[in-house]
Amino acid sequence: MSQWQLIPGLQLALDGPSGSGKGTVAKMVAEELGLPVLDTGLLYRLIGGLALQRTVALDDEQALVALVEEMLQKVAWTVDGISFDGENWTGRLRSEAVGNAASTVAALQPVRDLLLGLQRKIAESGCVMDGRDVGTVVLPNAQAKFFLTASVRERARRRWAQLKDDGGSSLEAVIDELKVRDQRDRERQHAPLRQADDAIVIDSTTMRVDEVVDRMLGVLERRGLIRS
Ligand code: C5P
Repeated sequence: MSQWQLIPGLQLALDGPSGSGKGTVAKMVAEELGLPVLDTGLLYRLIGGLALQRTVALDDEQALVALVEEMLQKVAWTVDGISFDGENWTGRLRSEAVGNAASTVAALQPVRDLLLGLQRKIAESGCVMDGRDVGTVVLPNAQAKFFLTASVRERARRRWAQLKDDGGSSLEAVIDELKVRDQRDRERQHAPLRQADDAIVIDSTTMRVDEVVDRMLGVLERRGLIRS
């Protein structure tokens, strides 16, 4: 049982670039508050991963839309992530290749439109949702919005530390890949990565995860959204 009392239907939006730590922080805040958590990046990663597996060209809008429609029928949430057609896909979606494919398909408006309804439905009775456009597009009325960031080098170092267990690339290569993905996510026409006007920015470059979580809980408490 959570020690906190929450206002009904509390929605928290947590956006930020790759490696900003938003996934870890979202999980911890959700657990602390007893709310469900949705990592929206996993939806885009699943489409990217399916497209790579089926060798669907990442600019073939029609085929990708069909893939998203199929995905919406067969997707389910597992304790630790996401499954498709009864198979757990979470582990294989972590790679940088899938991240890049996800960011390419995520630039397509029809793909985003199809995922919007699903994300809003999941959030209906309250949740912590992390992604790139949660505060700006998916949940513009979320009661609290946070934009988590960190220096490029620190974010790359975190990604690299995760990936090296899978025999991944050098730190310099991860920095380069991250810059390309950042640029694509920030400069795309539809729902680009940017902080919502009413988002609170937290730079986590020199912060521990628990410090970020405490700062967020403090904001929620001061705003009367939670109380212990
Ligand atoms: O957060 P993660 O690295 O898992 O996301 C993978 C890609 O999915 C991002 O680079 C981004 O292009 C896309 N994405 C998005 N909107 C979201 C979440 C992820 O466009 N809400």
